[in-house]
Amino acid sequence: MRDDLQFDGHGRLRHLLTIEGLPRQTLLDILNTAESFISVGEREIKKVPLMRGKTVVNLFFESSTRTRTTFEIAAKRLSADVINLAVAQSSTSKGETVLDTVRNLEAMHTDLFVVRHRESGAAHLIARHVPPHVHIVNAGDGRHAHPTQALLDMFTIRRHKGDFEKLRFAIVGDILHSRVARSQIHALTTLGAAEVRVIAPRTLLPMAVEKLGVHPYTDMRAGLHDVDVVLMLRLQRERMNGAFISSEQEYFNLYGLTQDKLERAKPDAIVMHPGPMNRGLEIDSAVADGPQSVILPQVTYGIAVRMAIMALIMGGAETATGGRRA
Ligand code: CP
Repeated sequence: MRDDLQFDGHGRLRHLLTIEGLPRQTLLDILNTAESFISVGEREIKKVPLMRGKTVVNLFFESSTRTRTTFEIAAKRLSADVINLAVAQSSTSKGETVLDTVRNLEAMHTDLFVVRHRESGAAHLIARHVPPHVHIVNAGDGRHAHPTQALLDMFTIRRHKGDFEKLRFAIVGDILHSRVARSQIHALTTLGAAEVRVIAPRTLLPMAVEKLGVHPYTDMRAGLHDVDVVLMLRLQRERMNGAFISSEQEYFNLYGLTQDKLERAKPDAIVMHPGPMNRGLEIDSAVADGPQSVILPQVTYGIAVRMAIMALIMGGAETATGGRRA
């Protein structure tokens, strides 16, 4: 379903809130634009002037290492001014609502908010209340969506493995609580993946997950057979209110990625993880740090992908669909 809140009256991307419903061409525009930003990170002077004079506020109501930091680096490489609101020390702790916090920062002429919140729908709520010249990027909302993570994952896959149409994917772990998995599934199916499998215990698979266009497996060895890309997920213990696994040891035995299980995948399969990783719970260190792992390149690519997203929605880079320049 197309999320019209994400586009302006001319069909140009205005906010990035979810992958669901985004046209394939929009995803390709972001990936192609990110390619052009990779070289910026390799120069001695790692800056371009596309967002000079613009103000970006990182508004993270939930903890983050990779997303917050790479958004800050990305915005600085685009020459924007960046503020990281320390939410724990902000007036949120005195009862100020999210919308009041945003309105006050908007009064300081913020152009773009990067928002992470524990509630699903928080970024949509804010996007509905900001004026037309203000842009929102969802940096993760509850169990709902993490679109920039999925896009950097797609970028990593395209760089390391090529055409989505020729590849089989396995997303492994806590599918039920994962906003990353939901966004990855929408991105992979939109980009024409040959097959997307999800592997998890029954308790961590959403009801009717097949309706998302994926094939569910509860046997990890069967699900990994002949796949090209293994996308591991973190066990989201902070979102669990009850017993979803019988024990951590049993979970690792059945669903932890070890070299032995990885041998079921194609010999040149790559291993991905969005981080933070629980070593020894969902992934063995020998695999996380091994030759098939692209986990750290994912982080590096995240900068170029987030530069592309901000430049496109601010109108600072051309898109095949929108085609405007600041
Ligand atoms: N992948 C991811 O969102 O990591 P952070 O929580 O560190 O931002």
